Amino acid sequence: MNAIRSSHLFLALSLFLSFSFTSSTRLTLHQGSSLSIGNADNVLTSNDGAFSAGFFPIGPNADCFTIWFSKPSCSIPNCTTVWMANRDEPVNGRFSKLSLRENGDLELIDAGGTVVWSTDTGSSSRSSTNLQLLNTGNLVLRDDKHATLWQSFDSPTDTLLPEQKLTSNTPLVSSRSKSNFSSGYYKLYFDNDNLLHLLFSGQTTSVYWPNPWLNSWQAGRSSYNDSRVAMLDHYGNFISSDNLTFLTADYGAKIQRRLTVDPDGNLRVYSQADGGKWMVSWQAKSDPCTVHGICGPNSLCTYHPSEGRSCICAPGYEWENLYDWTKGCKPKFNSFCDSKVETEFVELPHSDFYGYDKGFFPGYTLEMCKKICLDLCDCLGFQYKFSNCYPKLLLLNGHYAPRVNGSIHFKLPKLNVSYDIPKIEHATLQCTAKEIMLPRTYLKRQESAAVKILLTFAWAIAGVEAIVVLMVWCFLYRTRPEKGGAHIDGYHAGLTGFQRFTYDELKKATRNFSEEIGRGSGGVVYKAVLSDCRVTAVKRLNEANQGENEFLAEVSTIGNLHHMNLIDMWGYCAEGKHRLLIYEFMEHGSLAENLSSPTELDWPRRFEIAVGSARGLAYLHEECLEWVLHCDVKPQNILLDSTYQAKVADFGFSKILKREGLKNSSFSKIRGTRGYMAPEWIYNFPITSKVDVYSYGIVLLEMVTGRSPSGEHEKIEGSDAQEIKKFTSWVREKKGLGVPAHTWIEEIVDPRVRGEYDIKKIEILVAVALKCVEEDRDARPTMRQVVEMLLCCEDEDV
Ligand SMILES: *[C@@H]1O[C@H](CO)[C@@H](O)[C@H](O)[C@H]1NC(C)=O
Ligand SMILES: *[C@@H]1O[C@H](CO)[C@@H](O)[C@H](O)[C@H]1NC(C)=O
Ligand SMILES: *[C@@H]1O[C@H](CO)[C@@H](O)[C@H](O)[C@H]1NC(C)=O
Ligand SMILES: *[C@@H]1O[C@H](CO)[C@@H](O)[C@H](O)[C@H]1NC(C)=O
Ligand SMILES: *[C@@H]1O[C@H](CO)[C@@H](O)[C@H](O)[C@H]1NC(C)=O
Ligand SMILES: *[C@@H]1O[C@H](CO)[C@@H](O)[C@H](O)[C@H]1NC(C)=O
Repeated sequence: MNAIRSSHLFLALSLFLSFSFTSSTRLTLHQGSSLSIGNADNVLTSNDGAFSAGFFPIGPNADCFTIWFSKPSCSIPNCTTVWMANRDEPVNGRFSKLSLRENGDLELIDAGGTVVWSTDTGSSSRSSTNLQLLNTGNLVLRDDKHATLWQSFDSPTDTLLPEQKLTSNTPLVSSRSKSNFSSGYYKLYFDNDNLLHLLFSGQTTSVYWPNPWLNSWQAGRSSYNDSRVAMLDHYGNFISSDNLTFLTADYGAKIQRRLTVDPDGNLRVYSQADGGKWMVSWQAKSDPCTVHGICGPNSLCTYHPSEGRSCICAPGYEWENLYDWTKGCKPKFNSFCDSKVETEFVELPHSDFYGYDKGFFPGYTLEMCKKICLDLCDCLGFQYKFSNCYPKLLLLNGHYAPRVNGSIHFKLPKLNVSYDIPKIEHATLQCTAKEIMLPRTYLKRQESAAVKILLTFAWAIAGVEAIVVLMVWCFLYRTRPEKGGAHIDGYHAGLTGFQRFTYDELKKATRNFSEEIGRGSGGVVYKAVLSDCRVTAVKRLNEANQGENEFLAEVSTIGNLHHMNLIDMWGYCAEGKHRLLIYEFMEHGSLAENLSSPTELDWPRRFEIAVGSARGLAYLHEECLEWVLHCDVKPQNILLDSTYQAKVADFGFSKILKREGLKNSSFSKIRGTRGYMAPEWIYNFPITSKVDVYSYGIVLLEMVTGRSPSGEHEKIEGSDAQEIKKFTSWVREKKGLGVPAHTWIEEIVDPRVRGEYDIKKIEILVAVALKCVEEDRDARPTMRQVVEMLLCCEDEDV
């Protein structure tokens, strides 16, 4: 018996080897055959290799039949999944199979023989049906006449691929979490009003996108077209019958994209960058705390840059389940309707709970509002905002952030001591990694003599194969060029997030810090070639006055921001007093360098750079609720890749604002660079995201005029604040002369740029720039609005 078991093991091993080394890919599954779990040949691959379908482990001894992206190659389970047949009912990790039956029915059969999932296409008259995975990622079951009997595109899970139609019958439902693929709480669907909505459906149900207080036309939608169909095309254009349309940030390029309802309730388009990494190229909600249900009843959603989104219990409440925030918090006191107790109101400023009001009382004083809530025994508190009173019967969809107007006053039993007002820093979810262990047991099989002979035979073949494989491997290993191996390693590093480097490695990679390519805030940047041949930029931070943990916390925050217009961080080094960051290398250097020799930067490129860097900044500001401010936006910090796509660099670590920092705006040091600094710095006003908007405005003016406010190319005389003022009012005056656009534009545009310019676009750039550099920060637009303004006229040009 032991011998048989070890022969099993060896068989599995050799089959695995033969699978991974001789890459036997399978393109078609024919009628009457099946894909078995743990079998070498168990993966269907699309013709171009971009997609694979097969068994995918989601826990020990639990598998789902899955389609995933397989280009560039990835190792299961670290592959990006697209679709699952049985996300809510995983099968055993052994003896399960996907069978295309003789009657044409496709069935997923668990180890015990139960049919867990099927396409219901069985019919006695079927012949030569086959299953294929198309290059679009669609798994298609066809009959002999090439008619489609079933396709995975008709039953999406959480992801929509380009050319796949989203209809009223095919909603997208998020996964439960990043590691739990079963159906979660968030749904993208067409409702009876013909509009595309995002819905939270847990213990309660509520629509949160488009914003529920807007009607369809306010949200830019139309409810007249009842065809209820939406689609993303190959170029990044999304069109829905409710008139929702958008272009992804990288519109135009034909690359892999996917539209996914993430477990956090946001709808995002991801685009695959070089190396296989997925970048956000569009998202529905810019504020992660406005997604409903993310924090359960009696808790509030809050955002902290280094911890991400978290939930906190309202004062007087405690966690229902520390391991699952969606369960919310329970009161530490009895219902006010059951017992007469003395009560008090405890105020939590900048907080809100959406919905479940017992009426709306406009123009009430705080005392009147308290009275209403006291008189209702089931009132749990009220929101008080701009003299309006909203008594609450349920505390759901809570939100706690500096930008929220109004306060919640909680009704609580009177205590001798004061209630704890929760702090954001206190919130940390207790993480547990529970794994699925299927209770079902295997069907014990008695191996017959025939099976034994077969096994012996297979063993013999496997042995021969193993020798061949070994020889081939040795041959490959000896002759493999450095670069080939490096590419694979590099890809893994890209997938698994960042890597920790030793100081010695980086010293070697930078050839003892010999090639300086730039200086940013707090450090010098060197070009480096890693041992796997990747070219990178290594930033060596000047002073290590930061503890290792603090440094790592900040690094992980920055490292978690992936956007196509933000520079990507690959790794770090924290060793002794050394602190280094490893970034992707940008072939075309900084915008500053390019502006000083402007031949390569024609007008269309400049416009693209303006849009790209605005997008990067908007992502920083909004995804992070204004807490990641750049504070040093300037042409030196906008880098250009090989296609001149703009990537914002140097963000986050110059300062990740702490909550206290935001409140009393006590920046210990003034940050930023002469020529680009907003007046707030000089007058010691509170620092908000509008300082970045200001600096961005100056950069725009610099791109249009070719003149630098800090006098790098063509000096404008005067002291700092005056200098900027002179620069901006020079443009403002030219524009305000009342002469036709082409006349004043002629006078201000960078004369060194050859080629035609589009007057309308320059006009937009200047108009946006001047709005951004308003002295009054409230008059400046947000970065999101900047992006919209820049793109407002794109459509007309096409
Ligand atoms: C759809 O949107 C376009 C502009 O985006 C607008 O001109 C048009 O009137 C809208 N259609 C409806 C039916 O609202
Ligand atoms: C409804 O939407 C579909 C898909 O976007 C479009 O093809 C169709 O023309 C629209 N119908 C009307 C009446 O606008
Ligand atoms: C808070 O109030 C201000 C002033 O009325 C308004 O501009 C802002 O949009 C409000 N914020 C939210 C989140 O509603
Ligand atoms: C509050 O204090 C009073 C006396 O100061 C005491 O009698 C009462 O028990 C205290 N209540 C609680 C809940 O501690
Ligand atoms: C995944 O989530 C479902 C509920 O949606 C739960 O029943 C299941 O136990 C979870 N699996 C794991 C591994 O946590
Ligand atoms: C998958 O990624 C994790 C970390 O992200 C890593 O620890 C693990 O080894 C990877 N698994 C494979 C098979 O590559």
